[in-house]
Amino acid sequence: MKDDVIGDYLRELLKKLQDNSEGEVAAYIPELAAADPEPFAVAFCTNEGQVYAEGLREGDAEREFTIQSLSKPFAYALALKEEGLEEVARFVGVEPSGEAFNELSLDKATKRPMNPMINAGAITVNQLINGEESSVEDRVNKILEFFSDLAGRQLRIDSDTCDSELETSDRNMSLAYMLRSYGMIQDSAEDAIVSYVKQCSIMVTVSDLAMMAATLANGGVQPRTHKQVCSRRVAIQVQAVMASAGMYNAAGRWMASVGLPAKSGVSGGIIGTLPGRLGIAAFSPKLDEAGNSVRAKRVFEYLDRDMGLHLMAPEKQGRVAVRSISTVEDDQTSGGSQGKRTVIRLQGDIDFNACEKIWRTIQEHDFESENVTVDLEKVDEVNSVGKRMIGEFRDRLVRNGMKIEIVDPDEVLS
Ligand code: DON
Repeated sequence: MKDDVIGDYLRELLKKLQDNSEGEVAAYIPELAAADPEPFAVAFCTNEGQVYAEGLREGDAEREFTIQSLSKPFAYALALKEEGLEEVARFVGVEPSGEAFNELSLDKATKRPMNPMINAGAITVNQLINGEESSVEDRVNKILEFFSDLAGRQLRIDSDTCDSELETSDRNMSLAYMLRSYGMIQDSAEDAIVSYVKQCSIMVTVSDLAMMAATLANGGVQPRTHKQVCSRRVAIQVQAVMASAGMYNAAGRWMASVGLPAKSGVSGGIIGTLPGRLGIAAFSPKLDEAGNSVRAKRVFEYLDRDMGLHLMAPEKQGRVAVRSISTVEDDQTSGGSQGKRTVIRLQGDIDFNACEKIWRTIQEHDFESENVTVDLEKVDEVNSVGKRMIGEFRDRLVRNGMKIEIVDPDEVLS
């Protein structure tokens, strides 16, 4: 049977929003100003690497566009991977600036850019990649390969958009001179901006972006290729900064209304991550006054409303962790235990909350026998905290004179 329920939902969503023609395409890059303002597409990628991509018109879902500022979280991930969190923190902070993306902004005390999502921070981060001595070409190749790993396919740079932006880069050049004057970057301002603008000119589709975002959401593991592209710690750090600063001066409003780590770019893309679950991308070129795509923003608002994505509105756990606790006749034991055995059956996902409930249930139970079986047959997953706590429970029960048998047919504890 082929019945694409998720594709149907996404197509309906695009149709619902197609009449929204608010906003303007980015005018400061001639190549973007001349681009078709109509494309409209959305994609998401699950933690299992399943990608759903839909476009309003034929070809919209497969359309390539320049990544622009959506490159910033990923370049930050690469710098963190190469240099480590502490070293990168010497050059760029993690606080929201509350200012526009191209503001000449530095932390007053440290002279570091406030965060890697605004241009000042992104130009600095770009310069940390492949070491201080790197040529522009080697640095950009490093970035291109890293982005290709995140997307799971070979990406390319659009030289037309790159050249077009370099013709109108006075603002970014002034940022580079400012950063150089404070010793934050070492390259010439010209080289720093060529390198940064090339990074912004990498071509992606909504599916690429959804997979790149899903890799962050998935703790750095690309959900299709299963390659550990960056560490879990790096993925956490990048998403944390996206949550506080990804939407520039609209970041607070975005977190309150949509509630996902996100990033926008002037070509009209927005990406979002639902940690542990999804990478999401939407694209349509017309932007609001904060530089965020009007239609893509609406897509996220609808997805949040329909699918309950907001990080601050977690679903209650569907199933209680203790399925049953009972005493049964035990033919394996004899004498001292009076032939009885307590069987604790667990179920669902075992995390901290589940363990708290399991231990409380054990404490309240009146054990008729020292023989205890903990049955994990109906358990789906045990996270790292769950594994540690179950080990601790076992040790404590043994110390209290219990004989513990763990039934784990699917090896969820290993
Ligand atoms: O720095 C610039 O001007 C662009 N190449 C990227 C800016 C961007 O995408 C800002 N996003 N909202």
